[in-house]
Amino acid sequence: MPRAYATGSEGLPKAIAPPPRGVPGRDAGYDSRVLALIERFRSARNDPSRAVLEGFHAIKHAIRFSAEFESVATCDASKLQALAAQLAPDVALALSRLAASVTSAVFDQLSPSPPETGVIAIAKRRVTTLTGLSSARSAAPMVLLESPSHSGNIGAVVRVAAGAGAAAVITTGTNDPWNPGALRGSAGLHYALPVLHADTADVAGRVLIAVDPGGDDLAPGMIPGNALLAFGSERSGLSAELRARAYARLRIPMQPGVSSLNLATAVAVALYSWKLGQ
Ligand SMILES: C[S@@+](CC[C@H](N)C(=O)[O-])C[C@H]1O[C@@H](n2cnc3c(N)ncnc32)[C@H](O)[C@@H]1O
Repeated sequence: MPRAYATGSEGLPKAIAPPPRGVPGRDAGYDSRVLALIERFRSARNDPSRAVLEGFHAIKHAIRFSAEFESVATCDASKLQALAAQLAPDVALALSRLAASVTSAVFDQLSPSPPETGVIAIAKRRVTTLTGLSSARSAAPMVLLESPSHSGNIGAVVRVAAGAGAAAVITTGTNDPWNPGALRGSAGLHYALPVLHADTADVAGRVLIAVDPGGDDLAPGMIPGNALLAFGSERSGLSAELRARAYARLRIPMQPGVSSLNLATAVAVALYSWKLGQ
């Protein structure tokens, strides 16, 4: 059940610093607000209602696509302002209002892999259901990833799906498509289109097309706007069950000796073959 969160960085003071005697670590004598912040970031990583956004570009896109923030922390406010001015002036004001300063020692405890750009955030996930997708009319294909294993691939797929204007990205299997690694890979573009996990691979009103190295050659104009384009997992490809249910199986032509493309690359080729063939 999604929890309700306040927007902005309420409750987070503008400058949080550990007491002078503090040594980095959860029991290092930080005051209770710092410990609460560290705990908030730790628990958000596995919270199905929250998203951890690591780095400037992820937060930039989340701002552009109207994410609701719970906390934004930076260890270098002036570097952050310079980055925003140089790379994304449109989000500079929002970012300066949202970001609270923390020391580098505290910042390093907010992620197992603290982002080089010195900014990290928690935002509310955007929740979508299969029923909601079925009722939303869109003339663009949806992407279905069957049991993807690499979070970076999921993120790269979300990113290209956002770029190409796909209607949604749906995943099955055990990998959470909103996990922090996937959000890093998408640069926060999970907020640009519906991204959801589902137990089944059915979306009402969509034509299931298996994108599979064993199919017929893909050519421009072959992918309809109402397609549900299914892609298999990195190691084992599409399941026999899904291939059997597909209306068509399409292969991206490759040179002899090449077994397959990377998952996100295959999604990119299929989506842009639709987009450029429109
Ligand atoms: C790394 S590939 C999986 C390779 C797997 N060993 C197989 O034989 O299908 C991951 C997914 O990307 C897509 N893919 C990769 N190369 C493709 C190609 N040349 N044509 C169609 N789909 C491809 C398929 O959906 C595939 O299941």
